[in-house]
Order: sequence, then structure tokens, then C-alpha cells
Amino acid sequence: MSERIFVASTNDGKRAEFAALLAEHGIELGPSVPYPDVEEDADDYLGNAALKAAALREELLRRGIAATLFADDSGLEIDALDGAPGIRSARYGGLELSWSQRRAQLLAALSAVPAERRTARFCCALLAIDEGGRRFEGFGTTRGSIAFAERGTAGFGYDPLFLPEGETRTFAEMSAAEKARSSHRARALRALVAAMRG
Ligand code: IMP
Repeated sequence: MSERIFVASTNDGKRAEFAALLAEHGIELGPSVPYPDVEEDADDYLGNAALKAAALREELLRRGIAATLFADDSGLEIDALDGAPGIRSARYGGLELSWSQRRAQLLAALSAVPAERRTARFCCALLAIDEGGRRFEGFGTTRGSIAFAERGTAGFGYDPLFLPEGETRTFAEMSAAEKARSSHRARALRALVAAMRG
């Protein structure tokens, strides 16, 4: 497989995580290439990843770049909310909310839920397309629970609320390297690289 790969994401938090994870496999992350917004309206994470991958592929080809690329879609599934926000994690509470407002809204929705029922999981699906148009998939999940208040300042999104199983610290209280040891994204990427390397 090519030693450089583009990712369909302009989210700095995600890009930084992917760059560090790919480096562990000896693969360089290509520069950020903005592509036209796609409506992420598929029924599942893999479907949304496929929409983003196709949009980036089209943009790269338009620029005359033939390269391997991948896209991700991820979400947080909370048992006490019947799996919500799930595929709608980025939009939970409305697109106009800031991330601290979105986390506050989630905490409010769980205010009456006791510790033992705050179980949740992060899920990630990755879809890669190589130069020849072949497709590869990778999935990863990380089980954990939702804290009672925000803790930590590292990471992004729901990190300050997510306590991975067996940990006393949230993802946002860990270094990037520590998060990478158990993150859904790291697991999905390992599976994807294994699939691509055959
Ligand atoms: P996506 O960018 O369409 O995959 O949206 C998934 C949403 O879930 C994003 O808004 C992220 O902030 C959130 N999310 C996904 N992975 C993580 C993570 O590792 N930590 C915190 N939030 C995450």
C-alpha cells in the first residue's frame, strides 16, 4: 500500500490523532484537502464514511492527484438514551450549539441516570479507497461510561465526558498517546491497515 494516505477530514483534533496513529504504521498523512460538503445522511457509520471518501476522491482526481485515501465516521452511543446520539453525535442538540453547550445538554439529559446505567461506547468506521479504486474497511469500538461532569481539556468533542472502561480518567485527561492505546479510532485504523496490507 502507498506510504502516504489522505483523509477526508478537516477536523484538527481528528487529523492530529490520525497522523500520530498512521506514523506508528510508517504511513504519512497527506495534507488537508478541503472537499465540497456532503450531506451525511447514510443509515450507518460506514455509509457516511463512504460518502465522505467518494467526495474526497472526486476532489483529488479533479486536482490530478492519484492517491490512496480514507474517510471516517464515528459516534457516541449511550445505553440510557437507547444508543443516541450515535450517528447524529456531531449534531446532537442542534448544529448551532458550541461543543461545551452540546456536552452540557448531554449531561442534562443524563442528570437522573445513576452511575451503573451510564454505560456508553464510542464507535468508528473507516473506509479506504486505493489508487486502483479498491475499497477496504476497518471498525473499532471502545466501551466506557459517561462522567457526571466535564473533566480534562485535551482531545475534542465528547472527550471530557467519556471514561473508558477500567479507567478513572476521561479521554480529555489523557495524553494523545494514552488515548490512542484504547480509542475506537486507533482500533479501527489498526483493522484498516491490516486489511489493506492483506
Ligand atoms: P463525525 O465527525 O461525523 O465522525 O462525527 C462524530 C462526532 O462524534 C464528532 O462530532 C465528534 O466530536 C464525536 N466524536 C467522535 N470521536 C470522538 C472522540 O474520540 N472523542 C470525542 N468525540 C468524538
